[in-house]
Amino acid sequence: MNKKKEIVIGVTGGISAYKACELVRSLARKGYGVTVLMSAEAKHFVGPLTFRTLSGRPVISDMFSEDVAWNPCHVAVAEKADIVVVVPATAHTIAKLAQGQCDDIISCVVMATKAKVIVCPAMNDNMYAHPAMRENMKKIAGFGYTIIEPIKGELACGKVGLGHLAGINTILKAIEKSLK
Ligand SMILES: Cc1cc2nc3c(=O)[nH]c(=O)nc-3n(C[C@H](O)[C@H](O)[C@H](O)COP(=O)(O)O)c2cc1C
Repeated sequence: MNKKKEIVIGVTGGISAYKACELVRSLARKGYGVTVLMSAEAKHFVGPLTFRTLSGRPVISDMFSEDVAWNPCHVAVAEKADIVVVVPATAHTIAKLAQGQCDDIISCVVMATKAKVIVCPAMNDNMYAHPAMRENMKKIAGFGYTIIEPIKGELACGKVGLGHLAGINTILKAIEKSLK
Protein backbone atom coordinates (compact mmCIF):
# COMPACT_ATOMS: atom_id res chain seq x y z
CA MET A 1 0.00 0.00 0.00
CA ASN A 2 1.22 3.51 -0.77
CA LYS A 3 2.39 5.53 2.20
CA LYS A 4 -0.17 8.18 3.13
CA LYS A 5 1.11 11.54 1.85
CA GLU A 6 1.73 14.10 4.56
CA ILE A 7 0.51 17.62 3.88
CA VAL A 8 1.40 20.51 6.18
CA ILE A 9 -0.90 23.51 5.98
CA GLY A 10 0.40 26.79 7.44
CA VAL A 11 -2.42 29.23 8.15
CA THR A 12 -1.49 32.87 8.67
CA GLY A 13 -3.49 35.86 9.87
CA GLY A 14 -5.57 36.96 6.90
CA ILE A 15 -9.30 37.32 6.50
CA SER A 16 -9.37 34.33 4.14
CA ALA A 17 -8.07 31.97 6.85
CA TYR A 18 -11.59 30.51 7.05
CA LYS A 19 -11.18 29.21 3.50
CA ALA A 20 -8.28 27.03 4.65
CA CYS A 21 -10.88 25.08 6.68
CA GLU A 22 -12.52 23.86 3.49
CA LEU A 23 -9.14 22.95 2.04
CA VAL A 24 -8.17 20.96 5.14
CA ARG A 25 -11.51 19.17 5.13
CA SER A 26 -11.17 18.21 1.46
CA LEU A 27 -7.61 16.94 1.90
CA ALA A 28 -8.48 14.92 5.01
CA ARG A 29 -11.50 13.41 3.23
CA LYS A 30 -9.24 12.35 0.40
CA GLY A 31 -7.16 10.39 2.89
CA TYR A 32 -4.10 12.61 3.17
CA GLY A 33 -2.44 13.12 6.52
CA VAL A 34 -2.97 16.80 7.28
CA THR A 35 -1.11 18.74 9.96
CA VAL A 36 -2.19 22.34 10.47
CA LEU A 37 0.17 25.03 11.74
CA MET A 38 -1.23 28.41 12.75
CA SER A 39 0.49 31.72 13.32
CA ALA A 40 -0.56 33.52 16.50
CA GLU A 41 -2.46 36.06 14.39
CA ALA A 42 -4.31 33.37 12.44
CA LYS A 43 -6.05 32.42 15.68
CA HIS A 44 -7.83 35.78 15.64
CA PHE A 45 -9.61 34.63 12.49
CA VAL A 46 -10.30 30.90 13.02
CA GLY A 47 -10.12 28.81 16.18
CA PRO A 48 -7.60 25.95 16.29
CA LEU A 49 -10.41 23.62 17.36
CA THR A 50 -11.94 23.92 13.89
CA PHE A 51 -8.74 22.78 12.21
CA ARG A 52 -8.18 20.11 14.84
CA THR A 53 -11.62 18.69 14.17
CA LEU A 54 -11.30 18.85 10.38
CA SER A 55 -7.80 17.34 10.28
CA GLY A 56 -8.25 14.92 13.18
CA ARG A 57 -4.88 16.07 14.51
CA PRO A 58 -3.66 18.61 17.06
CA VAL A 59 -2.91 22.02 15.60
CA ILE A 60 0.59 23.36 16.20
CA SER A 61 0.93 27.04 16.94
CA ASP A 62 3.28 27.34 19.87
CA MET A 63 6.65 25.74 19.09
CA PHE A 64 7.60 25.91 22.73
CA SER A 65 4.55 24.15 24.12
CA GLU A 66 5.27 21.06 26.20
CA ASP A 67 2.10 19.49 24.78
CA VAL A 68 3.70 19.11 21.39
CA ALA A 69 4.78 15.51 20.96
CA TRP A 70 7.72 16.03 18.60
CA ASN A 71 10.94 17.50 19.79
CA PRO A 72 12.07 19.86 18.31
CA CYS A 73 8.71 19.89 16.63
CA HIS A 74 9.43 22.22 13.71
CA VAL A 75 12.18 19.93 12.43
CA ALA A 76 10.08 16.80 12.89
CA VAL A 77 7.14 18.39 11.06
CA ALA A 78 9.41 19.68 8.29
CA GLU A 79 11.01 16.28 7.76
CA LYS A 80 7.74 14.37 7.78
CA ALA A 81 6.10 16.66 5.20
CA ASP A 82 5.64 15.67 1.57
CA ILE A 83 4.48 19.20 0.90
CA VAL A 84 4.11 22.44 2.88
CA VAL A 85 1.37 24.87 1.85
CA VAL A 86 1.06 28.37 3.32
CA VAL A 87 -2.58 29.34 2.87
CA PRO A 88 -3.51 32.11 3.17
CA ALA A 89 -0.07 33.70 3.14
CA THR A 90 -0.04 37.22 4.56
CA ALA A 91 2.27 40.02 3.43
CA HIS A 92 3.97 39.71 6.82
CA THR A 93 4.69 35.99 6.52
CA ILE A 94 5.82 36.32 2.89
CA ALA A 95 8.28 39.03 3.98
CA LYS A 96 9.62 36.68 6.66
CA LEU A 97 9.98 33.81 4.19
CA ALA A 98 11.78 36.10 1.73
CA GLN A 99 14.25 37.13 4.42
CA GLY A 100 14.68 33.69 5.96
CA GLN A 101 13.35 34.88 9.30
CA CYS A 102 12.30 32.09 11.62
CA ASP A 103 10.27 33.35 14.54
CA ASP A 104 7.23 31.11 14.45
CA ILE A 105 6.27 27.53 13.62
CA ILE A 106 5.35 28.28 9.99
CA SER A 107 8.52 30.16 9.06
CA CYS A 108 10.67 27.56 10.85
CA VAL A 109 9.00 24.62 9.09
CA VAL A 110 9.28 26.29 5.66
CA MET A 111 13.00 26.90 6.25
CA ALA A 112 13.62 23.42 7.65
CA THR A 113 11.79 21.37 5.05
CA LYS A 114 13.19 19.73 1.93
CA ALA A 115 9.64 19.19 0.69
CA LYS A 116 7.92 21.28 -1.96
CA VAL A 117 6.50 24.56 -0.71
CA ILE A 118 3.38 26.24 -2.08
CA VAL A 119 2.57 29.81 -1.08
CA CYS A 120 -0.94 31.23 -1.60
CA PRO A 121 -0.88 35.00 -1.00
CA ALA A 122 -4.01 36.94 -0.09
CA MET A 123 -4.12 40.57 0.91
CA ASN A 124 -5.26 44.08 0.05
CA ASP A 125 -4.53 44.97 -3.59
CA ASN A 126 -2.26 47.91 -2.69
CA MET A 127 -0.26 45.65 -0.38
CA TYR A 128 0.05 43.07 -3.12
CA ALA A 129 1.21 45.69 -5.65
CA HIS A 130 3.74 47.28 -3.27
CA PRO A 131 7.36 47.14 -4.49
CA ALA A 132 8.41 45.41 -1.26
CA MET A 133 5.91 42.66 -1.94
CA ARG A 134 7.03 42.41 -5.59
CA GLU A 135 10.62 41.94 -4.38
CA ASN A 136 9.59 39.41 -1.76
CA MET A 137 7.56 37.42 -4.29
CA LYS A 138 10.52 37.35 -6.67
CA LYS A 139 12.73 36.12 -3.86
CA ILE A 140 10.48 33.29 -2.74
CA ALA A 141 9.91 32.22 -6.36
CA GLY A 142 13.70 32.13 -6.65
CA PHE A 143 13.83 29.72 -3.70
CA GLY A 144 11.76 27.33 -5.81
CA TYR A 145 8.47 27.84 -3.99
CA THR A 146 5.35 27.52 -6.11
CA ILE A 147 3.18 30.60 -5.91
CA ILE A 148 -0.53 30.38 -6.49
CA GLU A 149 -1.30 33.92 -7.46
CA PRO A 150 -4.28 35.66 -5.91
CA ILE A 151 -7.15 36.63 -8.17
CA LYS A 152 -9.20 39.78 -8.64
CA GLY A 153 -12.10 39.67 -6.22
CA GLU A 154 -13.70 41.14 -3.14
CA LEU A 155 -11.17 42.15 -0.47
CA ALA A 156 -11.55 42.49 3.29
CA CYS A 157 -11.93 46.26 2.95
CA GLY A 158 -14.97 45.78 0.71
CA LYS A 159 -13.45 46.88 -2.60
CA VAL A 160 -12.64 44.65 -5.54
CA GLY A 161 -8.98 44.20 -6.44
CA LEU A 162 -6.11 41.82 -7.09
CA GLY A 163 -5.37 40.13 -3.79
CA HIS A 164 -8.27 37.73 -3.27
CA LEU A 165 -7.14 34.21 -2.35
CA ALA A 166 -7.10 31.85 -5.35
CA GLY A 167 -9.99 29.39 -5.44
CA ILE A 168 -9.71 26.44 -3.07
CA ASN A 169 -10.14 24.02 -6.01
CA THR A 170 -7.20 25.64 -7.79
CA ILE A 171 -5.08 25.24 -4.65
CA LEU A 172 -6.25 21.66 -4.16
CA LYS A 173 -5.36 20.74 -7.74
CA ALA A 174 -1.91 22.35 -7.40
CA ILE A 175 -1.24 20.37 -4.21
CA GLU A 176 -2.26 17.07 -5.78
CA LYS A 177 -0.24 17.80 -8.91
CA SER A 178 2.83 18.55 -6.80
CA LEU A 179 2.42 15.31 -4.87
CA LYS A 180 2.48 13.15 -8.04
C1 LIG B 1 -9.45 42.20 9.89
C2 LIG B 1 -8.04 42.00 9.38
C3 LIG B 1 -7.86 41.36 8.18
C4 LIG B 1 -6.55 41.18 7.70
N1 LIG B 1 -6.39 40.53 6.50
C5 LIG B 1 -5.15 40.40 6.00
C6 LIG B 1 -4.97 39.77 4.75
O1 LIG B 1 -5.91 39.29 4.10
N2 LIG B 1 -3.69 39.68 4.27
C7 LIG B 1 -2.61 40.19 4.93
O2 LIG B 1 -1.50 40.11 4.42
N3 LIG B 1 -2.76 40.77 6.15
C8 LIG B 1 -4.00 40.88 6.69
N4 LIG B 1 -4.16 41.47 7.92
C9 LIG B 1 -2.96 41.92 8.66
C10 LIG B 1 -2.28 40.72 9.36
O3 LIG B 1 -3.18 40.10 10.26
C11 LIG B 1 -1.00 41.18 10.10
O4 LIG B 1 -0.06 41.65 9.17
C12 LIG B 1 -0.40 40.08 10.95
O5 LIG B 1 0.75 40.59 11.60
C13 LIG B 1 -0.01 38.85 10.13
O6 LIG B 1 0.69 37.94 10.94
P1 LIG B 1 1.14 36.50 10.45
O7 LIG B 1 1.68 36.66 9.06
O8 LIG B 1 2.20 36.08 11.41
O9 LIG B 1 -0.05 35.61 10.52
C14 LIG B 1 -5.44 41.64 8.43
C15 LIG B 1 -5.64 42.28 9.66
C16 LIG B 1 -6.93 42.45 10.12
C17 LIG B 1 -7.12 43.14 11.46
